[in-house]
Amino acid sequence: MNPDDLKVKILGIVGTPIKNGNCQYFLERALEAAAEDERVSTELVHLQDYRIEYCIGCEGCLRRVHKLQKQVGFDVIPVPVEGYNCTIKDDMEILHQKMLEADGIILAAPVYIASMPGQVKTFIDRCRTFVHDFRLRGKVSAALTVAFFRNAGEDTTLQAMTLSLLAIGLTVVTFGASAVSTREGLGIPIRETRFAVGEDLAGMTSMRSAASQVAQAALQMKAGRLGLDAAGIRLRSTGWVVVPGQ
Ligand SMILES: Cc1cc2nc3c(=O)[nH]c(=O)nc-3n(C[C@H](O)[C@H](O)[C@H](O)COP(=O)(O)O)c2cc1C
Repeated sequence: MNPDDLKVKILGIVGTPIKNGNCQYFLERALEAAAEDERVSTELVHLQDYRIEYCIGCEGCLRRVHKLQKQVGFDVIPVPVEGYNCTIKDDMEILHQKMLEADGIILAAPVYIASMPGQVKTFIDRCRTFVHDFRLRGKVSAALTVAFFRNAGEDTTLQAMTLSLLAIGLTVVTFGASAVSTREGLGIPIRETRFAVGEDLAGMTSMRSAASQVAQAALQMKAGRLGLDAAGIRLRSTGWVVVPGQ
């Protein structure tokens, strides 16, 4: 393995209607922490900059994946889907491409009524092709969240986001991290700073830890892949249940 080949890209995705808010700040600091290893490059995308329609449940992505599986065999993982696999032509095409090119993905969103904002759920729903084509397999991931109050939905939001990341085939490598954007998480604004989340020492510390876990795991995954390639070892896809009649 050539050490120069060991480079990874971590994509940060922030989903909130607020631009330059606490959540974006939290993710920016996470990407900085990830990039403390010089082999890590990062990019931040804000869902507010993209036009994302609701999934219409047409099953077009699923049908295309199944058609390909019948051609190449159900044990071929990832399914060799080429390009964008959604019938809705909007900015998700750009986001799918960025996700496919990344080695790691950190998703950040605020707590909205004890879960992620609808904007983020819409984005996740539009990733359904990846549930079935396994093209995100081997990419590492983590969720980050920001809330007003301590114990008012941080855990449930992190759980929902983490499960969503797992469902679309990503390898989640940490519990993730949450922070509060008010004084001590009591809902009292901190007027001296625009980014109150930066004052949450516990939140900032767990975020840095999560980000470094993502960076390190991405590098380890990549090193593993390069090592296997160099040794000419191909992993067999196992565990796929073939449904009779398909
Ligand atoms: C519609 C809505 C619902 C919210 N629900 C919660 C909640 O359930 N628990 C909580 O602690 N904060 C809640 N918040 C507060 C946000 O999580 C908090 O303001 C966060 O800092 C927003 O991050 P942002 O400015 O980066 O978008 C809510 C905010 C909005 C607008």
